[in-house]
Amino acid sequence: MPLVTAKELLAAAETGGYAVGAFNFVDMEVLQAIVQAAEEERSPVILQASAGAIRYAGANYLAAMARVAAEHSAVPLALHLDHGLDFATAMVALRAGFTSVMIDTSRYPLPENVSRTQQVVAAAHAVGVSVEAELGRIGGVEEEVRVTDREALFTDPGEAAEFVAATGVDSLAVAIGTAHGLYHGEPHLDFDRLSLIHARVPVPLVMHGGSGLSDEIVREAIARGIRKINIDTELRHAYLDTVKKITQENPEQYDLREVFGPARAAVTEVVREKIRLFGSSGRI
Ligand code: G3H
Ligand code: ZN
Repeated sequence: MPLVTAKELLAAAETGGYAVGAFNFVDMEVLQAIVQAAEEERSPVILQASAGAIRYAGANYLAAMARVAAEHSAVPLALHLDHGLDFATAMVALRAGFTSVMIDTSRYPLPENVSRTQQVVAAAHAVGVSVEAELGRIGGVEEEVRVTDREALFTDPGEAAEFVAATGVDSLAVAIGTAHGLYHGEPHLDFDRLSLIHARVPVPLVMHGGSGLSDEIVREAIARGIRKINIDTELRHAYLDTVKKITQENPEQYDLREVFGPARAAVTEVVREKIRLFGSSGRI
């Protein structure tokens, strides 16, 4: 089947009360790892690529790989731009065939976040592509998105409702205490804030910084209304820890397949665990 929009997958998740995993990829191996887990688990997934991934591999290469994966897949896949920081990056993704884009202008004052998001919504909706935006500021480091603890800002429920109404976005990334990258100590999420946002905002809610959260925290977040969970760091660790182990144990190994094949398999297992935890297993 062709790539579908994230909007379509998240609407089903809202009805079913589960979350869809959004997994970052920059190469063929991780893409295949994600799709294999999704197919074996009969689960929808969102494949996502950042601006950095686009710079590394090229938007057309990433989109072409995702299209091939979708055409041969028995489960629906969306291709999403993760943390598009400006209009131009979102347009590169649209043109390449992404079916969903995130415009992350959360670093600007609210009126500017609204107007910049509106521009992307107008262009994306004109060609049937769904849009995610962010309100508040999620802490940590995700490529060029660097937010210190002092800069992190939790999402205000009333402002979130106004932001969604003003922009027409299809999903909203909320800042409730998660952070990008590895956690140092147990994060404390503001679940009451999440419930308030869920009660007031009519579109599916997105949780960034999904790596390293306990199963208990993830289940609670889903129970309180999270419908898309982003995972990047844990995949990269599974992949590169395997590459390091094999190359250290077999310094004479120069067959790429003997190194990257097991790394791909390690990523599949992480994605499988997440899919089961998110409750999206067996939904297709
Ligand atoms: O946008 C991508 C993410 O929010 C992933 O966060 O690297 O902490 O899993 P993570
Ligand atoms: Zn993120």
